Amino acid sequence: MCGIVGYVGKNQAQSVLIEGLSKLEYRGYDSAGVAILDGERINVMKCKGRLAKLEEKLNKEPLEGRVGIGHTRWATHGEPSDMNSHPHSNYEGTISVVHNGIIENYVHLREWLVSKGYRFVSDTDTEVIPHLVDYYYDGDLLDAVMKATAKLEGSYAIGVICSKEPDKVVAVRKDSPLIAGVGDGEAFVASDVPAILNHTRDVYYLDDKEFVVLSKDGVEIYSAEGEKIEKKLNHVTWDANAAEKDGFEHFMMKEIYEQPKAIRDTMISRVMPNEPIKLDDIKITKEQLESIQKIYIVACGTAYHAGIVGKYVIERLARIPVEVDIASEFRYRNPIIDNKTLMIVISQSGETADTLAALREAKVHGARVIAITNVVGSTVSREADDVLYTWAGPEIAVASTKAYTTQLITMYMLALFFAQNRNTITKEEAESIKNDMLELPERAKKMLEQKEVLQKFASKTYMYKDMFFLGRGLDYAVAMEGSLKLKEISYIHSEAYAGGELKHGTIALIEDGTIVVALATQTDLYEKMISNIREVTTRGAKVLGFTVEGNTDMEKAVDSVLYVPKINNILLPVLTVIPLQLLAYYMSVQKGCDVDKPRNLAKSVTVE
Ligand code: G6P
Repeated sequence: MCGIVGYVGKNQAQSVLIEGLSKLEYRGYDSAGVAILDGERINVMKCKGRLAKLEEKLNKEPLEGRVGIGHTRWATHGEPSDMNSHPHSNYEGTISVVHNGIIENYVHLREWLVSKGYRFVSDTDTEVIPHLVDYYYDGDLLDAVMKATAKLEGSYAIGVICSKEPDKVVAVRKDSPLIAGVGDGEAFVASDVPAILNHTRDVYYLDDKEFVVLSKDGVEIYSAEGEKIEKKLNHVTWDANAAEKDGFEHFMMKEIYEQPKAIRDTMISRVMPNEPIKLDDIKITKEQLESIQKIYIVACGTAYHAGIVGKYVIERLARIPVEVDIASEFRYRNPIIDNKTLMIVISQSGETADTLAALREAKVHGARVIAITNVVGSTVSREADDVLYTWAGPEIAVASTKAYTTQLITMYMLALFFAQNRNTITKEEAESIKNDMLELPERAKKMLEQKEVLQKFASKTYMYKDMFFLGRGLDYAVAMEGSLKLKEISYIHSEAYAGGELKHGTIALIEDGTIVVALATQTDLYEKMISNIREVTTRGAKVLGFTVEGNTDMEKAVDSVLYVPKINNILLPVLTVIPLQLLAYYMSVQKGCDVDKPRNLAKSVTVE
């Protein structure tokens, strides 16, 4: 959802900014741009299209200077175009701004600025910022940015440079992520840590309305009242190479293949034989857990799908009623929340605006919030009462894979943790589930071995316009994720349907040759699912069926079958989803789509 980066230091800013933006491209890739101070003037280069296009232009006409800001865009206000690309500048070109977020009152500000004689050249909300900074500028950039941002409503992480103060970058955030980094004689700001990881591992996680001033001497942080703040400097220990493709053609495939390890890492020291589930990061007490009357799981996209599995397993094992909500819907339906409510938010990035808003809403009403996130230090992790990290490592491909499977693992761990604290599960049952969980990494590896079947299936079906995914119970939850993956990266229209519900309308769309992926892995629903499969095959559908090993009679009901191992049924989503991820991947490759950067999408949606 737009990525920003800023640099001041001993090196040429251009290469540092471009490298940083390349690590942030997952946030948006409609256009890119940089503004670099050469000591006297600001020079801007920006264009519609991928970062590579900007790089090409900069290779021909490099911009000199050791201070600069950069941006990669996911368009909200104003179509992707050269003019709407960031950075945006004031009329004289003495102030330039990059922005991630949405300025909600920009129409009003724009009118006001026009009445003061300012002229606008783009359709963006962002362009009001350089003009506002210009309006308030009186020899002190920090002061002008403070006054300008006081007028802004909405969300923003911004970086600002000014040719009258050519040795600094001023930056600030509100409801959009921003970190600052300190190196040796250099300083950075960025939307996310990977952007600066090749230069420094010493990072400040900024809070809302904290202003930073970067200079070659380091980073200074100020409150909105202008007081200097001393913050903790964090040392990031991630492997910088984790954000590289490692010989795979796409990040998505690399991340699909990383799942066995990610699943194992997420369980380390938490799931152990003959010991209760250990979630040391969770401070919620047994008494608090006993008083919980209701759980809301709130998330977006793939994380929401993990929440649907979570509902099923928590209700089944811990016997607490759970509602799952799409975060953007949750806060606008006036949900009933009190101090007997527990909210679980799931967010790979920990920065999704709607999820964050739901978290804040729950806290205002006294609920305790547990966050499941993949990004250490993310806003969600800092604002929740308890945090459970999924140790999946950086996920770069826009289509989420290893984050989903590790979110599922975390849901199982939480469900077992609740169940053991509320005595709703026997030791034997808990032990059996844990033992099966510990086998998941090896089983996941086996699932990956079936990739040729999916590749073949994709090569025969990639030209179809529609596809249906059917399932019941947990299989329905997985069907939703499989369908989303396909849509996201292959642009094939698809729908996930609960097997039993199909006949209430959607079956009208099934005709000769319609492709259906039918999931029938859940033992107690197997026969019912077979009936649903017959309902579509008798109407001409071609079916790829999924079931557990041993159910060979399915071969008679469908065109081809893919088997998942026989393990505890509640854990099967972790394995069933893997071939669905592979299917979407191969469909996308066959169609020649951009697997890692699908059109119109962004990995981290930091606007509402
Ligand atoms: C975007 C991404 C999805 C992701 C969703 C939620 O839409 O494209 O892949 O599932 O945001 O993201 P989060 O970081 O909150 O899990």
